[in-house]
Amino acid sequence: MSKYARITGWGKYVPERRLTNFDLEKMIDTSDEWIRTRTGIRERRIAAPGETCCSMSLASARQALAMAHLPPSDVELIIVATSTPDYLVPAVASMVQDRLGAGNAPAFSLQAGCTGWVYALVTASQFIQTGAYRNVLVIGTEHLSVGVDWTDRATCVLFGDGSGAVVLEASDQPTGLLSFDLGSDGSDYDALIFPGCAGVHPPSHDVINQRLHYLRMDGRRVFKFASRVLADSVRKVVIDSGLTIDDIALIIPHQANDRIIELARRRLKVPPEKMMVNIDRYGNTSAASIPLALVDALDEGRIQPGDRVVFVGFGAGLTWAAAAFHWEPQEPMSIPVLDWPVRERLAQPVARARTALWSARISLATKVEPLLLPLYGFAAGYRKRRKKE
Ligand code: COA
Repeated sequence: MSKYARITGWGKYVPERRLTNFDLEKMIDTSDEWIRTRTGIRERRIAAPGETCCSMSLASARQALAMAHLPPSDVELIIVATSTPDYLVPAVASMVQDRLGAGNAPAFSLQAGCTGWVYALVTASQFIQTGAYRNVLVIGTEHLSVGVDWTDRATCVLFGDGSGAVVLEASDQPTGLLSFDLGSDGSDYDALIFPGCAGVHPPSHDVINQRLHYLRMDGRRVFKFASRVLADSVRKVVIDSGLTIDDIALIIPHQANDRIIELARRRLKVPPEKMMVNIDRYGNTSAASIPLALVDALDEGRIQPGDRVVFVGFGAGLTWAAAAFHWEPQEPMSIPVLDWPVRERLAQPVARARTALWSARISLATKVEPLLLPLYGFAAGYRKRRKKE
């Protein structure tokens, strides 16, 4: 059974229409200087009428499949990470599956804000590592231009549309995903939120009049959170992979704000060339931003076979996630396993052993706990009696 999940194909799509900071100056009370110095963004792409999450996903997915030489009919699973699907129901993944001609693949969408694509990548890897599927198409797409309030200068200048996709395939070689870190802190759920037109505020004229159907964000709260988790999560996956930060060729962070990325870079003490930044071109494309940055990094020749890269995201939820990958898009058939660096050979079995130990501990606790309950009751009663005496 192949136990390793490696990326074998990738693709991206961004809409034709560019919306520059100067264009925004004509729409709202803002300036190119404010946006550039606070965020690093110069322009973003905006979907044309008729372009949607589904159509953008199809465009990036087709490129990824072509690169992996994988016909759509052979795709075994599709996951689309997005917060801006075509419809609330059905999942846009099912529409992508149909229009792609991937009739044999189950498909589902995954929502974890801007962290969604890394969550999807790690989820896909689990299906491959357990032997359930030999390949998975992992897409991150956002159609945020329909979700932002174009009268709210605090949010609308930040976001853009786009899509990125990768194909993950099973491998016998110890390559691909080395380790991952997934996190969530729901106590800050309202820091980045679409408040209206769902369960708490069902669609109504009032909800629309109050503009609750648009994205709301507490920028400072998100900034603080992001600056902390970005570096911490990278550090965790690097250590769990048995590597040091110097072993990492490129960190590909979620593109939300170049100041957040710069703070993390300084905390991690890595040189600028090891941190991928393309926010100037696309703004924050949420779940699409990391795969878009990956494709740009590959186009710029910043990742070579054999490199180790780290993907790291953060966003609504609040959530965060990182994944360390050994980059080996071509199956390294000719390399005997023993020639691989010991650390990498050990990283995945160690991670698996840790997970197995953790699950054993949980299932033991689940079994033992009910047996102990009468004892707890007896001990509590005994303490009460002693107190009375
Ligand atoms: N143009 C001009 N001025 C603007 C503006 C805009 N587009 N947006 C806000 N301002 C003003 C504010 O009104 C405020 O004015 P005031 O001091 O007179 O009240 C001033 O700029 C400072 O606002 P503030 O919110 O403190 O700015 P900031 O330095 O925190 O930067 C963000 C704002 C949004 C760029 C920053 O908080 C951020 O990037 N946060 C993280 C957001 C993020 O990453 N979200 C996605 C997570 S996936």
